[in-house]
Amino acid sequence: KQQSVWVSRPLFPEVLASLAQYVDVRVETREARRTPEQLRTKLVKVDGAIIGLGDRIDASVVAGNRRLKAIANLAVGYNNLDLEALTAAGIQATNTPDVLTQTTADYAWALLLAAARRVSSAERWLRAGRWRGGMRFDDWLGVDLYGKTLGILGMGRIGQAVARRASGFDMPVIYHNRSRLPEAVERECRARWVDKAQLLQHADHLVLVVPYTAQTHHAIGAAELAQMKRTAVLVNIARGGIVDDAALAVALREGRLAAAGLDVFEGEPALHPALRELESAVLSPHIASASADTRRAMAQLAADNLLAALGHGPDAGRPPSLLNPAVLGGR
Ligand code: GLV
Ligand code: GLV
Repeated sequence: KQQSVWVSRPLFPEVLASLAQYVDVRVETREARRTPEQLRTKLVKVDGAIIGLGDRIDASVVAGNRRLKAIANLAVGYNNLDLEALTAAGIQATNTPDVLTQTTADYAWALLLAAARRVSSAERWLRAGRWRGGMRFDDWLGVDLYGKTLGILGMGRIGQAVARRASGFDMPVIYHNRSRLPEAVERECRARWVDKAQLLQHADHLVLVVPYTAQTHHAIGAAELAQMKRTAVLVNIARGGIVDDAALAVALREGRLAAAGLDVFEGEPALHPALRELESAVLSPHIASASADTRRAMAQLAADNLLAALGHGPDAGRPPSLLNPAVLGGR
């Protein structure tokens, strides 16, 4: 085999086998935080790579690398890739859209329900052996979802899938997005566009599904939290950094928000210490897309993208989820 690829973490064996039909595969035995210099050293010896959100690929990582042709990201979001630098270096970049949409939307509801009804906190209390009778009728009071207004910030594919599920809870949906959806889609999602201030003020509960960019950094900070209802649940399945975690911890501690369900964190895997102490926060380690079927589909799509980018398989030369098509013209 003429070409080699690097896989920055263990993957499903059948997915690795599909790569190995065409290229030499070097797989790391575990996920790790790698410095730009460590990434550079790995990538200089290969034609392509499958990487994850913890691997930040910028100009310094690919500088002087004349061999690398393709980077396949194991995620739909790609704020860990400097697309401009990759395009300038003639490197194709791909992501994993669509295959994770429904699983991720399910998880937004898992966090919303768990946070609203205090599932994690109640389980900790139960496991600690504290249910010994004498529980008060007004203990463990949560907030309702049924019939309340659901707010969604970011109405891409995942936001729309979250919205579609709201009809089972009889929840009207309001959303904010840079661009309004076509009317037919709004009708189908039973969703109404509002400006950001209206979204914050009128949503009974708010789910964040925007990509992370310079514009969405701290889109929810102290000022925005202050506009939300005190009975609201905030769910972040998008990216760390969209919420100002320190400001959120203060709002939760002061009871200015009912609860939060968080799958992503600023500077993850680090966790803001104040969030760890808060019973009203349901926390999970970035697992919204982690169902058995969907993680397998994401891995296979990343492998298919990589092989196509390197000229192999049914899509040779046309990676199904190419992020920077300009690179194909300019090389
Ligand atoms: C996960 O966060 C993804 O972007 O796929
Ligand atoms: C995000 O990329 C989405 O699919 O909503």
